[in-house]
Order: sequence, then structure tokens, then C-alpha cells
Amino acid sequence: MQAACKQASKPEKFLVCHPCFPKNMNLHDKTLDYCFEHSTGVSRVLKELERETHLRTLNPQMLSGPYQGTLLRFFSRMIRPRRALEIGAFTGYTTICIGEGLDNNGLLHTIEVNDELGWLIWKYVRKAGLEEKIRLHLGDAAVIIPQLDETFDLVFLDAGKLDYPVHYELALAKTRPGGFLLADNVLWDGKVVGEDDKDETARALRAFNNMVHDDPRVENILLPVRDGIMLMRKI
Ligand SMILES: C[S@@+](CC[C@H](N)C(=O)[O-])C[C@H]1O[C@@H](n2cnc3c(N)ncnc32)[C@H](O)[C@@H]1O
Repeated sequence: MQAACKQASKPEKFLVCHPCFPKNMNLHDKTLDYCFEHSTGVSRVLKELERETHLRTLNPQMLSGPYQGTLLRFFSRMIRPRRALEIGAFTGYTTICIGEGLDNNGLLHTIEVNDELGWLIWKYVRKAGLEEKIRLHLGDAAVIIPQLDETFDLVFLDAGKLDYPVHYELALAKTRPGGFLLADNVLWDGKVVGEDDKDETARALRAFNNMVHDDPRVENILLPVRDGIMLMRKI
């Protein structure tokens, strides 16, 4: 079991631990524990949300977890977005992480296709005191993004992996030059690296990574954090 991070130094009965890096990264477990232990970690509200996500949803592993959540909060705090976009809120964990870094007058539009999750997202957005800064859109991102009359400083792609190319194009068109985009799960448990052609998602993400890497409109770096994060900056 991984050690708890700094804000969780008192034992917490329901703290759920997550892998911070891809399994195939070949770093000793103790090194990963050390990274986790020496990172600030997330708020009590996010720990509660993680627990409730495990109790209420069928696929709680979709939630990013404390290590990636801390990284997203850092990116958001460094960028201080006035306008941000999240595609794929799930239970709102990363919504809150990104929301915590917004500019004082900032706004985060988050999109979730599963309308049964709306109440849970709002419950924790309110607990985090972010209700004035989050606009939740329940519906298909491909329909909603074109309706948003905004220019984004930061975009987080984390909905259906097969839809990444469509969401990327729609979001890039509304990102300001110099703005940042992040796409989650781009290593797909390391399967994008091999030549596994049986896994449709691995094939799609391999094509997406190639597309981004060849796209002259962005510069990019693929970070081997958790399941892989593609960080892009619009030129
Ligand atoms: C991996 S989860 C997001 C996890 C969340 N960002 C986090 O880290 O805690 C992906 C979410 O995207 C949603 N989704 C899938 N396709 C979508 C679409 N076309 N438009 C909006 N949301 C979508 C799913 O219902 C699911 O809740």
C-alpha cells in the first residue's frame, strides 16, 4: 500500500490510494511512495469525494486521484486561467483541482455526458466553495463545445478516448495562442507503446499521440505520470 501524502499524515480510515505512475515505468515502488509522500496532496473535500465515488459509481478508477489531482491544481495555479474547459467531469474531482487554480474572476466550463452524476458533482463543487466559478454542462461535448462563446487559457481532455481527435479540434479552435491543453490516459497502461492492434482504445490513442506530435499548431510533451498526460501549448 502506498503511503499517504502530506495533508493526509494522520491515518484516514477511508483514504484510497492510487498508483501515481504507469505500472511499466520500472521505478521501484519505494521511489514512487517517496514521490507521493513528498507531494502536498489534496484537500479533505477531495478525499471525501474519492470515497463517495467508490461508494456510488461502477467505475471509480476513472477518478484521477491525489497525485495527478495535485499536478493539475499546480498547472492551474501556474496558469491562473480566466477561462478553462474540462471535457469529462465524472464526479468532479479534477473539476475541483482545476477550479482551485482559477484566476479570481475565472470560470471553468466542465462537460459531462452522464446526467446522473450532476448532483454528485454539484455536492462537492459546493463543499469546495467553487459554485460561483464552475459551469456544469450535462451533455455531449461535441455538441456543447461549439456553443461555448469563450476563449480558453487551459483545457483538460478526459472524456471518451476514441473521441479525443474531435474534442481536441473543437477545443483547440477555442484556445488562445499561448494557451495550454492536457489530455489524460494517453499511455493507456503502456499499451500504446507496443504493437498491440487488438485494443481499439490503444490504437486510437496511438493515432492521437502521433497526430498531436505532428501538429505544427502545438508544441507538446508527453508526461509519464499515472496513465500518461499529453501537455500541449497552442503556438
Ligand atoms: C475518465 S472519466 C473523467 C474523470 C475525471 N476527469 C477525473 O479525473 O476525476 C470520463 C468521463 O467522461 C464522460 N464522457 C464520455 N464521453 C463524453 C462525451 N462525449 N461528452 C461529455 N462527457 C463524456 C464519461 O461519462 C465519464 O464520466
